[in-house]
Amino acid sequence: MRVVQFNEFGGMGALRLEDAAAPSPGAGEILIRVMAVGLNFFDTLMLRDKYQFSPKLPFSPGGEIAGVIEALGEGVTGLEVGQRVAAFIGGNGCRELVVTDATNAVPIPDGVSDEAAAGIIITHGTALHAFKDRADLKAGESVAVLGAAGGAGVAAVELAKLMGARVIAVASSEEKLAFAKSHGADEGIDYNEADLKQTLKDLTKPNGVDVVYDCVGGDAAEPSLRATAWEGRYLVIGFASGKIPRIPLNLVLLKGCEIVGVFWTSFAAREPDKHRANTAQLFAWVRDGKLKPHIHATFPLEETAKALSLIEDRKVTGKVIVNPQS
Ligand SMILES: NC(=O)c1ccc[n+]([C@@H]2O[C@H](COP(=O)([O-])OP(=O)(O)OC[C@H]3O[C@@H](n4cnc5c(N)ncnc54)[C@H](OP(=O)(O)O)[C@@H]3O)[C@@H](O)[C@H]2O)c1
Repeated sequence: MRVVQFNEFGGMGALRLEDAAAPSPGAGEILIRVMAVGLNFFDTLMLRDKYQFSPKLPFSPGGEIAGVIEALGEGVTGLEVGQRVAAFIGGNGCRELVVTDATNAVPIPDGVSDEAAAGIIITHGTALHAFKDRADLKAGESVAVLGAAGGAGVAAVELAKLMGARVIAVASSEEKLAFAKSHGADEGIDYNEADLKQTLKDLTKPNGVDVVYDCVGGDAAEPSLRATAWEGRYLVIGFASGKIPRIPLNLVLLKGCEIVGVFWTSFAAREPDKHRANTAQLFAWVRDGKLKPHIHATFPLEETAKALSLIEDRKVTGKVIVNPQS
């Protein structure tokens, strides 16, 4: 089978299209023919060995996949050959065939495309976990999303809107803000141009922002925290800016607010039943037309580096997908 992988850490040049032996499922596992792989910002970090852990080499990008079950390992029940499923696998997705634990599979309902299923697991999954399980977001509250046009950001915009919030998109250009608005944001702030703290405060007078969803970190973090409401929640999602902010803790005391860590990967591993239920809920919303995940572009397997470069160069709105069968 064809695989895109890297044998040493580096930039896009380290990625190679290679042949590898087709895997077969062991007990409790399934073999999936991969139709779509969702790429994420963390794939670019893993390639450069800048992620929270170092992947074992050789390694393929792609932590979320959708496809068709080709074979069942011994003891697998409740799934069948030919069934369409999606799975979070952490990595090694950019290949024609994947073996994974059967417990990772979530059936894809009719009416949900492979691209949408693969692209929704992590980004929308993180947003749903963050708003529902971590922030207890209530209809009518205000939510500011930093990096609102990226994969994680636009998913948060869509989810917050679906949950009845008033959504303020924060991004680096008018085009990105227009894109976030087309996915449900009520207002937009260009943080390259505006005074972020003051504009957030003005938009959410007199209380301030109830929930901040921060995918960016860096210089945007403290002004956003300073604009939060009494008993607000500041959700720490990621540091796409490359800078981990240091926050004066007196702000948390003065606002009676919470800084809440959100680590979806750990959540999915620690609470698999809840994770599968959340994913099934997201698929149902897509099927019912309540969520419309945006696919920026789909690339064939041999153009995986091009797909990842788009993410690294900050050019993506929504998700980038690789189709290993094309
Ligand atoms: N905690 C979790 O469980 C979890 C789950 C998913 C993702 N994440 C994290 O969330 C962050 C965003 O992920 P993503 O997949 O949405 O990435 P993405 O699609 O590339 O979006 C990242 C956004 O960050 C902004 N940004 C600011 N400085 C940047 C820089 N130097 N390079 C690249 N982007 C920059 C960009 O928006 P502007 O141009 O508008 O500034 C971009 O749209 C990452 O740090 C990722 O690891 C965390």
